[in-house]
Amino acid sequence: MARHGNGTNWPLLIGRIVAVLMVLGIAGGVYAYYTVFREVAQVPCGDVEPDRRADLCADDAEERFKYGSVGAEWELGVPYPIFHVLPRVFADLMPGPGGYAAFGLPWEEGRELPVGFSKKTVGFPRVTQTCAICHAAQYRTSPDAAPVIVPTGPSHTTNAMAFLDFLEAAANDPRWSAEGMMPEIQRNFDLRLDEQLIYRFVILPIAKKRVLEQAADFAWMHAEGRPAWGPGRDGPFNLTKFNLLGLPDDGTVDNADFPSIWNAGLREGQSMNWAGETQDPLAVYIDSALGLGSPPDEVTDYMIETREYLRAKQPPEYPYAIDAALAAQGEPVWQAECASCHAEGGAYYGRSVPVGEVGTDRMRFDAWQQEHADATNARAAEIGVSRKDMVKDVGYVAQPLDGIWLRAPYLHNGSVPNLEALLSPPETRPEVFWRGCDIYDPGPVGFRSGPADEDCPRAWRIDTSLPGEGNGGHDYGTDLGEEDRLALIEYLKTF
Ligand code: HEC
Ligand code: HEC
Repeated sequence: MARHGNGTNWPLLIGRIVAVLMVLGIAGGVYAYYTVFREVAQVPCGDVEPDRRADLCADDAEERFKYGSVGAEWELGVPYPIFHVLPRVFADLMPGPGGYAAFGLPWEEGRELPVGFSKKTVGFPRVTQTCAICHAAQYRTSPDAAPVIVPTGPSHTTNAMAFLDFLEAAANDPRWSAEGMMPEIQRNFDLRLDEQLIYRFVILPIAKKRVLEQAADFAWMHAEGRPAWGPGRDGPFNLTKFNLLGLPDDGTVDNADFPSIWNAGLREGQSMNWAGETQDPLAVYIDSALGLGSPPDEVTDYMIETREYLRAKQPPEYPYAIDAALAAQGEPVWQAECASCHAEGGAYYGRSVPVGEVGTDRMRFDAWQQEHADATNARAAEIGVSRKDMVKDVGYVAQPLDGIWLRAPYLHNGSVPNLEALLSPPETRPEVFWRGCDIYDPGPVGFRSGPADEDCPRAWRIDTSLPGEGNGGHDYGTDLGEEDRLALIEYLKTF
């Protein structure tokens, strides 16, 4: 195999470029500025044909939520050409066909990147992630229906762990090299000779090193006894402890469902996160954006803007018919059984219910302690970010149930597939089911939860007997008569 297909003498060429740059010091500065630092403002919807923009990206704030940079290019940006060719060069390491969609990422037709990814030029085009990678739901009302994407809904199809594993496998593969990747990059991108050199000798090796460093930081995901995240979840508080604070693995399991974050005005003054670790929405936004690599001096202003969008954004309506008479019958059942925790004015509304009282799996709750809150608060102060302090609360939060139909599977660990199961005695709930299918099942009110098939090739098996995956507790309403139970479920569809 010819190492340098076109016969270029690379070392000589680089030598020349370096020599020229040394002679032309100023020009060298300009060159470096253009190739590495020059920031180009994102054009919202810039990847869409101008005449389709009005249809595809009418809402600026939503466009920004889905695809807008959080300013992490410098820290965490992946060069776009590399991002683009990875699923092609390493097709055999992907979980299925269809490019990045194989990780369950919602992908809008006509868009260059899946929802949750931003492309911005800082020297060269770089891809980073947005809130929407974990906060954008996708559903289909039947196998033949077009997918509907709901930004701010839970990304219950997205398998973040499989995505990280893919990157690691690719970086460990001998094909992650100039020989393995440059031909594909050059087939897709019109790079100048100097850019080719930079990709070959600088960007590819640095990106590989970064991916491997990241994989080492995430090694705890695979520790024995810690169930995989699967689609729709990550380990948010262990991420904070191990990746941000650098603490040693303490063996805890904190698998947590991606929550919905729409209708945020409802949450002002409430306890946030599944177990009330943060008691103010803006503080959660700021910490989340910092986690995505947003620069400390920009993060607060950006998140105040994001808050406007999240307050205005409403959950989508239930997409099937609702039996209004039956739903009306469910309202008093709700008042009697549920309102004390889930409705305005209820004693526990928006607050934590002691973990022993709600009785759901407590591992996610136990994974976070006061000392972790203190260390995180100290870190925020150190980087000059002022936000409401994190705490250790007493249990899981009784949240508003707006848009609850689209928030399946249920509970903090997503261990209960649908409302029918949640309103059945815990010992009769499915011990094993499959998550990550985007086809809705209006019967039990949740997503299809059977094994993988043609319609849902990536359905992922959850075993509720594993640590942290327990489906017990929250037995409210489970002793209702059949009629009341059906009426209550019908009523919940109106939320
Ligand atoms: C990598 C995935 C991921 C990304 C990216 C992400 N989040 Fe989240 N988010 C989560 C998870 C998981 C939780 C639940 C954490 C827990 O266990 O309490 C959460 C919780 C939240 C909550 C609390 C919801 C509630 O009901 O208490 C808010 C608000 C939120 N995120 C906003 C954001 C914003 C704004 C961004 C972008 C700046 C963002 N998130 C980015 C995964 C993510
Ligand atoms: C004593 C307070 C309390 C009562 C009463 C209560 N809940 Fe809950 N509910 C909670 C708590 C706390 C959680 C979170 C538990 C967890 O995630 O582990 C929760 C979670 C839920 C969830 C899952 C939310 C999600 O996003 O996954 C649903 C659905 C729900 N409750 C419905 C109901 C219904 C319906 C009733 C009445 C039959 C009811 N609850 C009664 C406290 C309560």
